[in-house]
Amino acid sequence: MRKFFKWLGIIIGSVILIFAAVILFLYISTNNRIEEKYTININKLNIPEDSVSIEQGRHRALLCQGCHGDDLAGKVVFSSPAICEIIAPNLTPGNGGVGKKYTNEDWVRAIYHGVKKNGNAVLIMPSEDFHNFSKEDLFTVVSFLKTLPPVDNETKPCRLTFFAKVLVSLGAFGNVLNAETIEHTNNFSESVHIDSNTKFGKYIVNISGCRHCHGKQLNGGKVPNPDSPPGANITPGGNLEKWSESDFITTIRTGKTPEGKLLNPVFMPWRDFSKMSDTEISAIYKYLKYLPKLKKFDA
Ligand code: HEC
Ligand code: HEC
Repeated sequence: MRKFFKWLGIIIGSVILIFAAVILFLYISTNNRIEEKYTININKLNIPEDSVSIEQGRHRALLCQGCHGDDLAGKVVFSSPAICEIIAPNLTPGNGGVGKKYTNEDWVRAIYHGVKKNGNAVLIMPSEDFHNFSKEDLFTVVSFLKTLPPVDNETKPCRLTFFAKVLVSLGAFGNVLNAETIEHTNNFSESVHIDSNTKFGKYIVNISGCRHCHGKQLNGGKVPNPDSPPGANITPGGNLEKWSESDFITTIRTGKTPEGKLLNPVFMPWRDFSKMSDTEISAIYKYLKYLPKLKKFDA
């Protein structure tokens, strides 16, 4: 009997030890990924400074407000003591703002490559989507950012708990270090003609992060925010099949679907999208309607 307990003890002890080793391995691997340095060389860029470019950039930079705040002076994006504190920093040239020390190339490295000025990958920010920006959109966003009035706001760096780092390794939040999946070339693409057609709609979908939450094929997916419901199927295989163009525009502008569902702006950022132009929203609708009818993807 004593021998039995001794062996049981050894077995249980070993299982605990192996478990602890796996957890530690998962933790260390996230740490290494966060601390990895990327070298992204960008030749000197000529960023336009005329007022038309600045206004165009202001419109595109609406995509940044959901996280960085309406005045882009920084905002807490997600905070939970057990998991993490995700803070999008101040982008203005005020105290604590990155705009104070950023060059044209630094802006492009952060937005287009997902790499910070210090060489580390940017956490959470969807640069994988911004990598689809046309050259014109990318450069005019920078034109606009350079004109931001200074706002003093010292934002704290992001913080991930031990537990969060283990979860990141297990893929619980999806792709949180976009620099890992971006192909780091500087072949900026030509601009897509602004028109309410499917081609422009696809472009807007690709830069707006719809695939981040609604899945690669837009038929549903896992959302980075652990509190959020899964992203809906927005191909004609879902409710969209029955929606008219004006139903879709109303949904994006008001957050209320034709079925009467109220979309929570924290999970589905319709408030940001509601500032898109009519042409942009109707182009998205045309593109989504043109997609194959897919069954809901179960995340
Ligand atoms: C989903 C949220 C989100 C969106 C959308 C977003 N960002 Fe960020 N951004 C962040 C977070 C979080 C950080 C801080 C990440 C870190 O410290 O690793 C950050 C960091 C940055 C940085 C600083 C990098 C550095 O060197 O420290 C810049 C510049 C930046 N964002 C620009 C933009 C611009 C421009 C847009 C719009 C085109 C944008 N962001 C959209 C979340 C977001
Ligand atoms: C940060 C995550 C996120 C992003 C980015 C996002 N969505 Fe959503 N969306 C959601 C979630 C989550 C739901 C489901 C909400 C619910 O079930 O309450 C949703 C629901 C919807 C619905 C309602 C579908 C239905 O059947 O009721 C539409 C339409 C929609 N999204 C379109 C879009 C479009 C278009 C984009 C890109 C321009 C986009 N979403 C980007 C998270 C997101």
